[in-house]
Amino acid sequence: MRWEDVERYVSLKVSESLRWAKESDEYIASAAGLKYYPLCVEKAEGAKVWDKDGNEYIDFLTSACVYNIGHRHPKILKAISRQIDKVLNYTIAYLYEDAPVELAKKLVKITPGDFKKKVTFGFSGSDGVDSAIKAARAFTGRKGIIAFKDSYHGTTYGSLSLTGIVKPEVRGKVYPIPDVYFIEYPDPYRNSWGIDGYKDPKELVSKVLGEIESKINELGGDVAAIVFEPIQGDAGVVVPPADFIPELRKLADKYGIVLIDEEVQTGIGRTGKWWAVENFGVVPDIIVSAKALGGGMPISATIGKEEVMESVPPPLFVFTHSGHAVSATSALATLEAVEEEGLLERARRLGERALREFERMRDEFEFIGDVRGIGFLIGIDIVKSRETKEFDRNTALKICWRAWEKGLILVTFGKGGNVLRIAPPLIIKEEELERAIDIIRSSMKDVRDGKVNDEVLRFLRGW
Ligand SMILES: Cc1ncc(COP(=O)(O)O)c(C=O)c1O
Repeated sequence: MRWEDVERYVSLKVSESLRWAKESDEYIASAAGLKYYPLCVEKAEGAKVWDKDGNEYIDFLTSACVYNIGHRHPKILKAISRQIDKVLNYTIAYLYEDAPVELAKKLVKITPGDFKKKVTFGFSGSDGVDSAIKAARAFTGRKGIIAFKDSYHGTTYGSLSLTGIVKPEVRGKVYPIPDVYFIEYPDPYRNSWGIDGYKDPKELVSKVLGEIESKINELGGDVAAIVFEPIQGDAGVVVPPADFIPELRKLADKYGIVLIDEEVQTGIGRTGKWWAVENFGVVPDIIVSAKALGGGMPISATIGKEEVMESVPPPLFVFTHSGHAVSATSALATLEAVEEEGLLERARRLGERALREFERMRDEFEFIGDVRGIGFLIGIDIVKSRETKEFDRNTALKICWRAWEKGLILVTFGKGGNVLRIAPPLIIKEEELERAIDIIRSSMKDVRDGKVNDEVLRFLRGW
């Protein structure tokens, strides 16, 4: 693959972006990314992004579900500027600061569960997951962790070890932590049992629950935690049957297992509730948040039952920069913006509208196998045949390429790298949403009509 060749296949001016893509390849380790097209970001505002060559885009990736309240929200800019006028940060490992305390108070309030909770902070979803595992193991005195196949939890040692979507032979290269057991997630559309989970959700749920319970028994009950995404994100927006999470709660209670709700991608309003788990009416023991929480600044929060969180001895939750004042201030401003601007309701309303539009596209394009999601977390599953449901990664990638040329940042994810990832900022204007949907429709048409050259696949690395 030679970047020089890109310009032959793209209708945009991309020379400046290309310069940075080439330098990035030269200096930044390739494992730090799954790149699509050479788009180097120059600036961003609201739901829009501009590249180094001045091209304008609507952002359907949102920096991987970070900018739920949009890029450079004025509330965040003000809050950060107020904070940096005082102190950038002082470590809460030794002294005290107000911003992380205020944030912890707010998080305790907006997380489900009528019990006393405590919070610990980090910088990324990955370390938030690690903190949750530490708490569950310390609390139960057990070591086993049940995670799900095709899950994504991050790349620190703990979180990577629970990440099912990274193939065992790839994870194996760095010797992940032991005592992690993977169970198949109840994917209604595509599962190894051939169950149609839309028609027979009960059968699917009981299959998965049965497997978990057998594993617990096989391990003689040595299971500290079950870690789950309420909607599997990187697996391609897999929405489980409504009964699954309530049944998981019952199973965790039966065996005294800590139920860890991993909301790094799904939280902070993306599904029309603060937390996706609320769509299923379940109260978990621990919630992990990051990404959108900081509104663009790095922060994670692990919020859990007091007795679980307090079973971890100091200094096992210490990071020098944990609860960083600038990030915590930005997080508080983010939560306020979600409330003040009614973004939960907005995500629900506009998300439903978008979902209906994509369902209509399913009638137009044979390669759309499934459309699913809640709120503004939507996946469009592209297949070679509706009957076999075989992944069609190449068609999905070509749609993304054409969408890029037409002014929309769109990428893929999913078990077969074949699912279009629809995750706009919750503040997106209605006309921007309509324009983005039009771009997707016309990009699909172009791909169906053979107007996107197969050669572009050489440049798209992706999932
Ligand atoms: C569901 C989920 N968990 C955890 C992570 C890891 O978060 P981070 O990359 O901030 O460490 C991600 C990131 O994509 C994610 O989507």
